[in-house]
Amino acid sequence: MKHYTLTIVGTGYIGLVTGACFALMGHTVVCHDVDRAKISGLQKGKMPFYEPGLRTLVRGMVGKRRLRFTTDLEDAVQQSQVVFFTVGTPSRKDGSVDLRYVRQAAQDLAGYVRPGMIIVSKSTVPVGTSLLIRRILERGGAKKFAIVSNPEFLREAVAIDSFIHADRVVIGYEEHTPSRVRRIMNAVYSGLHVPIIETNNRSAELIKYAANVYLAGQISFINSIARLCEEIGADVEEIATALKADRRIGPRAFLQAGIGYGGLCFPKDIRALIKISKKMGYHFKYLDVVEEVNKDQRKIFVEKLRRMLGTLKGKHITLFGLSFKPNTDDMREAPSLDIIRLLLKAGAHVAVTDPKAIPYARRILGKSVTYISQPARAVVGADAIGIVTEWSDYRRLPWSTLIKKMKSPHILDGRNMLNPRTMASYGYLYEAMGRK
Ligand code: UDX
Repeated sequence: MKHYTLTIVGTGYIGLVTGACFALMGHTVVCHDVDRAKISGLQKGKMPFYEPGLRTLVRGMVGKRRLRFTTDLEDAVQQSQVVFFTVGTPSRKDGSVDLRYVRQAAQDLAGYVRPGMIIVSKSTVPVGTSLLIRRILERGGAKKFAIVSNPEFLREAVAIDSFIHADRVVIGYEEHTPSRVRRIMNAVYSGLHVPIIETNNRSAELIKYAANVYLAGQISFINSIARLCEEIGADVEEIATALKADRRIGPRAFLQAGIGYGGLCFPKDIRALIKISKKMGYHFKYLDVVEEVNKDQRKIFVEKLRRMLGTLKGKHITLFGLSFKPNTDDMREAPSLDIIRLLLKAGAHVAVTDPKAIPYARRILGKSVTYISQPARAVVGADAIGIVTEWSDYRRLPWSTLIKKMKSPHILDGRNMLNPRTMASYGYLYEAMGRK
C-alpha cells in the first residue's frame, strides 16, 4: 500500500479521529486547527473529548512520528498532496447549516494550494458546498486543484472501529476530474479493504444526509410501534427482533426503541435536510414526522413518570445517564436535557449520575440538578429512577439491594435495557418503552 502525507483542516471530532486512523493506516498526518489551546493540549497528549481508545491511538501515532498537530496552516500543507476539510458545520437557529468555518478554512487555504493538490470535503455539508469551496479557492488565486467530496460516517463511542471497519467509503468527484486524482483517493483508502463507492460530488453530499435521516427514521418508526405496543399490550423488543430477522431489514437496523435519538448528527442533519429541500422547492414531509416523533418520546417519558408517581411535584427523581448514548461524554442534543427541563418545570427534584458526562453536564445545567457519581448513592431516597442512557455498567448494578435505598421502587427504563421480569422479581414497579 502506498503511503501519503495528508493534512486535516479542523481537528474536531471527525478531524482527530480521521487523522489518527489515517496515521494508523501508515500515512503521515498533520492535523491543523485555529484553536491554540486545543492544539497545544493535543501536542501534550490531552484529548479535547472522550472517545474510547483514541488517546492511546493518538499518543502511539505521535510517538511513531506519523501524526502531529499545528496551528500553522502553511506548515500543515507544505508536504501534503491531499487536504481534508473537517471543520464544524453547526446548525443555525432556523435549522440551516452555518458554513462560516468552511468558508474561512477555504479562504485561509487558498494561498497555499499547489497545482495537483486534492482538497477533500469531509464535513457534512449541503449539496453544492464543494462548488462553493472551489469558488473561494479560485478567488484566492488557487489553480489546478481538485475538489473531492468524501462524507464521513463515523459513530461516536465506536469511532475508531467505524472508520477502520467502515461499511463503505463514498467518494464524489467533479466532472472532468483527472484519473490521477481517483487513483490517489483510492490509494489513500486502499488499506481499509472496504468497498469504495464512486459518484459525483452532489450525490456524495446527499448520500450523507440520506444515510443519517434514514437511520433516524428507523428510530422514529420503532418508537411509533412502541407507542402502539403500549396501547395493545404487545412487546416492541420482540417485534424488533422479528423485524431484524428479515434479511431486507437486517440485524444491525436501528430498531432500539426508547427515548429517541440525540447527538450531533441526526438532529442537525434532519433539520438541515428539511431546509435544503425547502430551498429546492420540495416539502420533505417525512422528515417533519421523524423529528416530531423523536421530540415526543422525551415528553412521553416524563408523562410516564408522572403517571407512575401520581404527580412529579416535590418528587425525587434520579436519572441514570446524561450523554446522548453510552461510552461518550457528549451531551449535544441529548434527550436527557429535555427530560431534565420538563421534570424541573413540573417541580421535581432531579439527581443525575453518569460514568463520564457529569463534568460536561455541570457546564450546561449548573446547580439545577444534583450530581452524584455513584449510582448506588444516587438512588438513596429516590421516588423513581429513570434510565436515560444505556451504559452497560447499569446492567451489572446490584439491583436486588439498591431497591432498599429507594423511597418507592419505581423504575422507568427509557432504553429498554433491563429485563422486566428480573426487575419485577426484585420487587420493582418497572416500566419500559413499549414493553409488556
Ligand atoms: C450517527 C450515525 O450513526 C453515523 O453514521 C453518522 O456519521 C453520525 O451520526 P452517532 O450520532 O455517533 O452516529 O450515534 P448513533 O450510534 O448512530 O446513535 C445516534 C442516536 O440514536 C443516539 O442517541 C442513540 O441512543 C439513538 N439510537 C440509535 C436509538 O435510539 N435507537 C437505535 O436503534 C439506534
